[in-house]
Amino acid sequence: MDKSGNNNQDSISILFNDYYNRSDFSRQTSSHWRKYGSLQKIKKSNDGWKLEGLGFGDYQQNNILNSIKNIPTRIYISKLLKDCDKNIINKTKVVANQSCRTLSYDLARQALIVNKLSKSISKLDTKTFCIIGDGHGALGCLIKKVFPKSKIIFINLGRTLIFDLYYSKKVFPEIEHFLIRSNENIFSKHFNYIEAEKCNNVEINADVFINVCSMQEMNSEDIRSYFKLIRKQNSETYFYCCNRISKELPDNSLINFSEYGWLDKDIIIFDELCPWHQEFPINRPPFTRKFDGPIQHRLIKLI
Ligand SMILES: C[S@@+](CC[C@H](N)C(=O)[O-])C[C@H]1O[C@@H](n2cnc3c(N)ncnc32)[C@H](O)[C@@H]1O
Repeated sequence: MDKSGNNNQDSISILFNDYYNRSDFSRQTSSHWRKYGSLQKIKKSNDGWKLEGLGFGDYQQNNILNSIKNIPTRIYISKLLKDCDKNIINKTKVVANQSCRTLSYDLARQALIVNKLSKSISKLDTKTFCIIGDGHGALGCLIKKVFPKSKIIFINLGRTLIFDLYYSKKVFPEIEHFLIRSNENIFSKHFNYIEAEKCNNVEINADVFINVCSMQEMNSEDIRSYFKLIRKQNSETYFYCCNRISKELPDNSLINFSEYGWLDKDIIIFDELCPWHQEFPINRPPFTRKFDGPIQHRLIKLI
């Protein structure tokens, strides 16, 4: 048994066996993620795992062809990041290189989130961050690069959590990555991974919760349960939420930002349309495209 209590079987294999060797989806998988989840492909070959995801980020392999194709995107990104802290930009480039991906618009968004949070919350460097619905581990890895003493907890659907784990291990091969499935498992002070399906079996303690473009695609019941988790923390807790004001899922349910579970007593630190998240770059004229609806970002302190 290793320190995470995982019986020495590697965590990617555990998740693969539990989520890719079955034909149905978990209760926590919304109609949106039933559609996209079925397009996620994972294979094990002699050179290791091969992962192909869709619907959660613009991962593109770093190669010459992509580098030429992405010239317009790179120009857009350099303008977008012009006021971002240089250290955060440099660390974003390191995450891109170490996960063998291009410095994409999605990574630039993560840089701007870290930049904004570091200006809005004091002493971020030693905090525990719980990221609900990351996807390629990019935000968690960037936070860990910028704040090496921070502790990261990823919560994601088991099918996508494999991607968070696989890519975070690529960026941080030397440090602990623990799959936490019950209160018997010990948390690492570095990276921890919790399946949305097992979230209620684990006591989760964090200072800063983050959810970006993810609650907008969940069932209301699951959004409520994450709010419950965030509200039951003992210490000073922050929640950064960046999601579509309204989104219709394939089963016709409407998920509205204003109905997530906010309370009048929440202390709002900022609440506005997210300045960097209303349009995204494309590599052909007119070079930008609007998202399907406005995206709000809000940081609250909970009391
Ligand atoms: C559109 S992606 C956003 C990825 C990333 N946060 C970003 O901004 O690029 C939505 C993410 O939410 C995750 N997700 C969907 N339902 C979830 C649930 N019930 N609990 C946790 N994560 C969930 C998906 O697996 C995916 O990683």
